[in-house]
Order: sequence, then structure tokens, then C-alpha cells
Amino acid sequence: MPTLLHLDSSMRHEGSRSRALSAHYAEAWQQANPDGTVIYRDLAADPIPHLDLAAFSANFVADDDRTAPQREARELTETLAHELLAADEIVIGIPLYNFGPPSTFKAWFDRIVVPGLTVDMESGGLLGGRPLTFTAARGGGYGEGTPREGWDHREPWLRHALGQLGFDDIRFIHAELTLSRETPKMSGLEDLEDKSIADAHAAIDALFAEKRDLAA
Ligand SMILES: Cc1cc2nc3c(=O)[nH]c(=O)nc-3n(C[C@H](O)[C@H](O)[C@H](O)COP(=O)(O)O)c2cc1C
Repeated sequence: MPTLLHLDSSMRHEGSRSRALSAHYAEAWQQANPDGTVIYRDLAADPIPHLDLAAFSANFVADDDRTAPQREARELTETLAHELLAADEIVIGIPLYNFGPPSTFKAWFDRIVVPGLTVDMESGGLLGGRPLTFTAARGGGYGEGTPREGWDHREPWLRHALGQLGFDDIRFIHAELTLSRETPKMSGLEDLEDKSIADAHAAIDALFAEKRDLAA
């Protein structure tokens, strides 16, 4: 039975574009996989504790030798790592905060780099073969050819860091200019925001239509 791991990380629920897009993706996935299971985790509502010394060092100590804080931390680490290992596909809703990913996402990421489970110190990442899609939202416009191209440091970092874990099929679906109605100097960009969001939803539909065609 196929499994989708669905994560969200926007601090807001109402009005969140990244959440709307990841929910659209999960619905399309469930339609395509009626007998599949969706595992959902809200990294903003239910944050993962930051990686601390107990959690980090627990990964380098044999089961029987762990202290109580290490044992407790390792339990969560293993839960998160096993959620990934059990997933056939992953979708992550991710906003842009201060030119990078939300700290709630980083806290999760720091916990899923686990030698022996998600990465092998000799051979590298162990998470290959799982398509990973980010539904990404950003307030400004940083697309190709714009004056602020390159200001979104989320995507290059995510591609690199997750690539190191073995992910070999990483896709970004961006919605941008989402602050057009809240930022006076972005006045006039509302139609472009709407188009960007509509295009992002259409990209999800096109992706699943392509998968249907391939399976037919
Ligand atoms: C704390 C914070 C920092 C932000 N930093 C940026 C930024 O650096 N660049 C940008 O384009 N938008 C920035 N934004 C705007 C968000 O990226 C935008 O509102 C996006 O739509 C949020 O995702 P969501 O719609 O899923 O909540 C920021 C928003 C917040 C709350």
C-alpha cells in the first residue's frame, strides 16, 4: 500500500498558500492512490524540538548505553526517520521566511539526518527513489530575470541538503508575490499573484495527469 508523507511548515493556517498547495497535492495523490495512506505532520502546530546535544549524541551511542535524555530524544529521531523511510512519496508545504526555510522545518531536518538510518557514512544518502515535492510560497517575486533573482535561498539549500540524503527527484512548485495585497509598494501586482497561485495549482494537476497517462 503506497504512503505519502505530507508536511506543512507555515506558521499560519488561514490564508497560507503553501498549505493550500500541499493540501491540493495530497488530495490529488489520494485520488490517484485510493488505497494509499497519507501520514500528516504539521511542523508549525506541533514543532519538533531543536537538535540539542542529547539528541545529536544519541545517534552515536549504542542503544544500551544511552542516558535517559538520549533515549527519549532518539525515540523521536527514529519516529521521524521511519516516517521518511516508509514513505513512497513526500510533499512539503514551505514558506520563505527571511530568505530561507522556516526554523520549524530546519528543526525537523536536523533530526532526520541519522547515520545508519537515512545516511550511510561511507556510501551517502539512503533516501533515494522517493519523489519529493515542495509547494513553496514567497511574498516577493524572485523569478528568473527579475531584479531579485537569487534572493530565495531556500531552494538551493534544500536541493543540496536533501540531495545529500539521497533524494534524486526533487521538485519545486512556487507561488509568489503573495504579499501583493498586504504591501503597499506591491500594489498593482495582485493579478500576477493570482496567476502565480493558479499556475502552481495547475502544475499539480498537470503532474498527476502525466502520472495517470504514464500508468495507462
Ligand atoms: C517571518 C516572515 C518572514 C518573511 N520573509 C520573507 C522573505 O524573506 N521574502 C519574501 O519574499 N517573503 C517573506 N515573507 C512572506 C512569506 O513568504 C509569504 O507570506 C508566504 O506566502 C508565506 O507562506 P504561506 O502563504 O504558506 O503562509 C515572510 C513572512 C514572514 C511571516
